[in-house]
Amino acid sequence: MPDTQAIVFDLYGTLYDVHSVVQQCDAAYPGRGVDISTMWRQKQLEYTWLRSLMGQYISFEQATHDALVYTCNHLRLDLDETTCTVLCNAYLDLSPYPEVPAALQRLKDMGLPLAILSNGSAFSIDSVVKNSGLQEYFSHLLSVEPVRVFKPDPRVYMLACQALDLPPPRILFVSSNAWDASGARHFGFDVCWVNRRDNTFDELGMAPSYVLRGLDEVPGIVSTENWQ
Ligand code: 2OP
Repeated sequence: MPDTQAIVFDLYGTLYDVHSVVQQCDAAYPGRGVDISTMWRQKQLEYTWLRSLMGQYISFEQATHDALVYTCNHLRLDLDETTCTVLCNAYLDLSPYPEVPAALQRLKDMGLPLAILSNGSAFSIDSVVKNSGLQEYFSHLLSVEPVRVFKPDPRVYMLACQALDLPPPRILFVSSNAWDASGARHFGFDVCWVNRRDNTFDELGMAPSYVLRGLDEVPGIVSTENWQ
């Protein structure tokens, strides 16, 4: 039996570039786009982890909104309601990384079910995927909403097993976020860490099964695994 029977992708930072919002940030605050986007993403993640620890689930959109407010306060930038809405909406219209559509096509041609498992709400995931026209590739778009906690909580990874009716070792999980790759490996998935930017893997007691430079390398992993 082939090892991999389905592939599950993280969304933000893995399939889609969260820093595609730099352009809108720069339009609102000239010259500050990179600073805003970098701090915004970091705080957004922290807020999901902290909310999970507090047992106070909020939607990913709310965490994104709150992180933007923090970022603008911290950078002493005046954030009016219109700008806040425009920038938060930019998170619903992110660009996929350039190699993503062709890689998804190759994987789909191999006959594997493809899914997304994201901290995003169902509305956010749907919006991002539909706005980029990639919805045809995925059999499942899975949000954390049913369990009201964020990755890397194991209850979230379990949603993929339930939806796909597969045990963890039969799922190849693909993420660029080292903390997510660690959580998924700890849960028992086979894990590809997509390291596009020469980042350092987190020290969380886990190692990814594979380290790749881009999504275009995933089909090679699957075909090697399945023909061993
Ligand atoms: C995700 O899509 C937040 O990147 C993380 O779940």
